[in-house]
Amino acid sequence: MNINAYSIEQNLEFETLFKNEDTIAFCYPIYGSCVPRIMREFALKYKSCLNGKKLIIFCTQMLFSGDGARAFARLLPGCEERVIYAEHFLMPNNICNFSLFPMTEREKNKKPIKALKKLDRVCLDIQRGTVKKRGWNLFSTLLGKTQNIAYVKMEEQGRSSFRTDESCIGCGLCAQKCPTHNLEMIDGKVVQKGNCTLCYRCVNLCPKQSCTVYFHKKPKKQYKGLDGKL
Ligand SMILES: Cc1cc2nc3c(=O)[nH]c(=O)nc-3n(C[C@H](O)[C@H](O)[C@H](O)COP(=O)(O)O)c2cc1C
Repeated sequence: MNINAYSIEQNLEFETLFKNEDTIAFCYPIYGSCVPRIMREFALKYKSCLNGKKLIIFCTQMLFSGDGARAFARLLPGCEERVIYAEHFLMPNNICNFSLFPMTEREKNKKPIKALKKLDRVCLDIQRGTVKKRGWNLFSTLLGKTQNIAYVKMEEQGRSSFRTDESCIGCGLCAQKCPTHNLEMIDGKVVQKGNCTLCYRCVNLCPKQSCTVYFHKKPKKQYKGLDGKL
């Protein structure tokens, strides 16, 4: 759609960027039908800059999230009416050490291609002025709520759940890539600061597959994201 895309991890003047736009799209992976904590904190920090803006919300999910896309709109009082498009996209599971949903080759290869095709269709829809709000019905809300309840506890327990073992070579990649700066290298060892957002980036990136968060089973197959860079 010829727009600028940024990561919330970039060190940018987001107030200025938001001020110059009348429509802003937010994209995030769903965590237990909740917006990831790091994204929630971002939204709340810039909520005043989003007043009066039209919003597009895209949410990725492994299976289902009920009202995953609506969850973002709920964070900002009064903005639900300003959402012009909300959609869910199926992507591979990034919880690579959870045996109930193992990453299959089919999932790894097919889901991203399908998601990109869907994205093309959605962009055309938006350009034509179609308004669609996925997750805005009662059934989706109830489905989302059931997942929220379990996830709130998981999120709290997960804050200090990083683990690594003797296979760690102290390369520091996990600390370098952690989006919340939860990990720090001290004397060649990884130390956590109780701020894990459960993004699984360390688990998926570790060259020795030594890192785990929340579930402490070692990952078999890591998820490298759409472009392999995470
Ligand atoms: C902590 C956590 C909770 C998750 N909860 C859900 C969920 O409730 N429903 C779901 O379909 N996927 C869930 N997932 C999977 C991710 O949403 C999915 O793998 C992600 O959207 C992958 O897309 P990405 O390439 O945009 O990261 C969860 C992942 C994590 C790390």
